[in-house]
Amino acid sequence: MFKNTPKILIVAIVSIVLLNIISGCGRGNVSGKPPIHLNPNMDTQPKYKAQAESGYFENGAVMRPLIEGTIAQGWLREDTEFYTGKNESGKFIKSVPVEITRERLRRGQQRFNIYCSPCHSKVGDGRGIMSKEDYKYVTPPNFHSDSVRQFTDGYIFNVISNGVRNMPSYKHQIPVNDRWSIILYLRALQRSHNASENDVPLEFREETK
Ligand code: HEC
Repeated sequence: MFKNTPKILIVAIVSIVLLNIISGCGRGNVSGKPPIHLNPNMDTQPKYKAQAESGYFENGAVMRPLIEGTIAQGWLREDTEFYTGKNESGKFIKSVPVEITRERLRRGQQRFNIYCSPCHSKVGDGRGIMSKEDYKYVTPPNFHSDSVRQFTDGYIFNVISNGVRNMPSYKHQIPVNDRWSIILYLRALQRSHNASENDVPLEFREETK
């Protein structure tokens, strides 16, 4: 038994060396060939990779150009007023193009307090934390001023989406639907600061007198 050992060793070493040469898989050897794969099953199959060349198509590229008018899922923005705040003729729409519900107002309040209040403050008077001594960011206008009250909802949508002068755009942080909810809440805030007796429901009017 021991007599055979050297022979086996020699056979083993020779076959390892041979395998290395055949497969080119010695360390440091660069090879374009795939490693030896004894049972390939269907592990590797011919396929194209993006941006690769192809002899099959006329322009020599694997990737096919998009058919004109192709729109990615979820990006069909046919409702111009909802997505731009402008009507077909390019004018800012007067009021929000969404249904006014209590849930929407709540959502608007929550989003307003997250995204707008740092600068505009929770009551919208423009004295948010960013206008304080430590930050000294440009003080925004008071939402209860006559000029801001007269803005159309479409214009405010545009301000949130694209920013205005010193105010940055919030289109990447705030989805379209939430922008309209914020505007609804902003209107509620404005109303609360300029309310008249007629805004108080009848059953509460006596209490306020
Ligand atoms: C980083 C601070 C900041 C945040 C956050 C911010 N604003 Fe402003 N906003 C400003 C400043 C500053 C101005 C004044 C811009 C100017 O006149 O240079 C302004 C102006 C405005 C105006 C008046 C635009 C005009 O034409 O005069 C509206 C309306 C407004 N913001 C709404 C919002 C709403 C709604 C949000 C939340 C989605 C928001 N802002 C978030 C800083 C901010």
